Amino acid sequence: GTLIRLGVDRYLYHLRLPEETLMDVSKRFRQEMDRGLGRDTNPTAAVKMLPTFVRSTPDGTESGDFLALDLGGTNFRVLLVKVSANGKQRVEMENQIYAIPESLMRGSGTELFDHIAECLANFLEKLGIKDKKLPLGFTFSFPCQQTKLDESILVSWTKGFKSSGVEGQDVVSLLRNAIRRRRDFDIDIVAVINDTVGTMMTCGYDDHHCEIGLIVGTGTNACYMEEMRHLELVEGDEGRMCVNMEWGAFGDDGALDDLRTDFDREIDAGSLNPGKQLFEKMISGMYMGELVRLILVKMAREGIVFQGHTTPDLLATGHFQTSFVSAIENEKDNEGLLSAERILKDLGLNPSPEDCVTTQRVCQIVSTRAAHLCAASLAAVLRQIRDNKAAERLRTTIGVDGSVYKNHPQFARRLHKMVRRLVPDCDVRFLRSEDGSGKGAAMVTAVAYRLAKQQAE
Ligand code: GLC
Repeated sequence: GTLIRLGVDRYLYHLRLPEETLMDVSKRFRQEMDRGLGRDTNPTAAVKMLPTFVRSTPDGTESGDFLALDLGGTNFRVLLVKVSANGKQRVEMENQIYAIPESLMRGSGTELFDHIAECLANFLEKLGIKDKKLPLGFTFSFPCQQTKLDESILVSWTKGFKSSGVEGQDVVSLLRNAIRRRRDFDIDIVAVINDTVGTMMTCGYDDHHCEIGLIVGTGTNACYMEEMRHLELVEGDEGRMCVNMEWGAFGDDGALDDLRTDFDREIDAGSLNPGKQLFEKMISGMYMGELVRLILVKMAREGIVFQGHTTPDLLATGHFQTSFVSAIENEKDNEGLLSAERILKDLGLNPSPEDCVTTQRVCQIVSTRAAHLCAASLAAVLRQIRDNKAAERLRTTIGVDGSVYKNHPQFARRLHKMVRRLVPDCDVRFLRSEDGSGKGAAMVTAVAYRLAKQQAE
């Protein structure tokens, strides 16, 4: 086993990033953050550091019934969130997953928003609340330019979406119009938030040190609380505001070209958004399995695995799912290797025990690089927050969600370990969020609603 693994390590040398390189990536990312925050540098910056207009976290007095929509993760969902504040705040939820056919993800925007409105109608009908005009929070997990909480202009689609006529438009108006066209119900759209923000908010509810939200799922991204005086694009210097970094776009200006491999270039070339989200493509769940597949294909063609054989399934884009990587890296007994054998057989191959060990090592290298790259950018955010507070040591909490972080058996541990090595002077707590995208949108809506009511009084 050891010899095989060493062979793979040598073969995939470029995917194994030493700690010095990660430290360097971290420094580059910190510069990107500065460029995104600066008024003059922002227009050409790759990492956009988008203001979210979220300034306060829940104070525990919020209450009411709220609707939430969650679009942009693994599933599209509609939720009803009941927040009650008698004594201790409690949150109850009803939620329903709806399918979005691929044709709608890549079709016309009008059709997409009509579908969303239809799912909402179906949900209200089912719960018998179609006649109530409830406040709604919309978790829309794509880069958006915001000028207030309830206006959100899509900068560009990412991940698997590419519907026409939405980029450059306010998604709140698109949703309002779709609902108006139906004429069968009415709602009050109060807030649009990114999933990272929802994640930070739900964790912030349990832990008041929480000031970072991280997602490693279909896509990857993070947000954090930044000092208003550093947000040169927003008026005012008092207090803090949450910034949606959109760190998936790190490298889109060439900043990571020396670290990207031929496999990364191939993934990018075959994607829906070539040249965009280059950091995300090295890390997130939408691409991880595909990276492993491309490596295995190359190794097979060179006769290093599968006795030089390939199969139609191994050659098909998307046929090596990211969930396979998780299964193959299971370290319990022989589970991982057994999974490798089963998965490779399902792809029509006839793997030897050595092939299974090789495949496992390829998975480890790809997912470790992903975890370590996340650690590098996270370390930069931690240093920024520490410097903002002029603190010797920073004690902070990161709220985390996403299918890769939660389902991969080694990812979280590797990420935590590398973060602690890169910023030894920070006490970091990682807190898994329980449904940040759903509950978080409702929490932001609840806070906005409370503030609006207070203003009206
Ligand atoms: C993509 C989106 C970003 C989102 C992330 C995680 O990077 O652009 O907005 O937060 O995926 O879902």
